[in-house]
Amino acid sequence: MDGLAPPRPLEAADFDAARAVADGWFGHPVGLTLHRLFFDQLGPHGVWIAREDGAPAGFLLGLVSASEPDLAYVHLHAVDPALRGQGVGATLYREFGRRAAERGCTRVRALAAPHREGSIAFHRALGFEGPLEAGYLGPGEDRIVFERALPIP
Ligand SMILES: CC(C)(COP(=O)(O)OP(=O)(O)OC[C@H]1O[C@@H](n2cnc3c(N)ncnc32)[C@H](O)[C@@H]1OP(=O)(O)O)[C@@H](O)C(=O)NCCC(=O)NCCS
Repeated sequence: MDGLAPPRPLEAADFDAARAVADGWFGHPVGLTLHRLFFDQLGPHGVWIAREDGAPAGFLLGLVSASEPDLAYVHLHAVDPALRGQGVGATLYREFGRRAAERGCTRVRALAAPHREGSIAFHRALGFEGPLEAGYLGPGEDRIVFERALPIP
């Protein structure tokens, strides 16, 4: 992708930059969903894409499941609104899936709230499928539990 550095694992030092842009990129406060655990302890599982000047372009927080070792799990991902529609989100997922497959994963899961139309369209475009599960994250917190096989082509 023109003007962007290659994707790399997250580092602890990326947390402050992610925190600074996350609410604006999502369009609402994300609070502790953006937890530094994903940078300090799980950074090697995640993905960071920067502009060539070092500014963040997109990031993915995720992990390889401890209870289901064949499962990679995307917790959160976001792309700079100025860079959307150019394949940055798909690159985050492909890189995450590639590294998770090296760790033994054969499938990847991600959740989407039923009102997040952009996120639903993104996951369907990448070949994810899954059921809407009522109350998946608690009362009133329905989620589509998307999964697809790895690798992501
Ligand atoms: C969802 C998000 C990460 C997509 O990033 P992106 O870089 O624009 O996605 P890409 O350009 O890689 O798109 C990949 C595919 O998804 C489709 N897609 C992405 N966003 C879409 C949207 N809002 N509506 C319809 N399709 C969309 C693209 O058309 C593309 O499909 P194609 O391969 O058939 O052409 C970005 O919109 C975002 O950061 N949103 C806010 C945060 C968010 O909702 N995160 C997800 C929940 S944690």
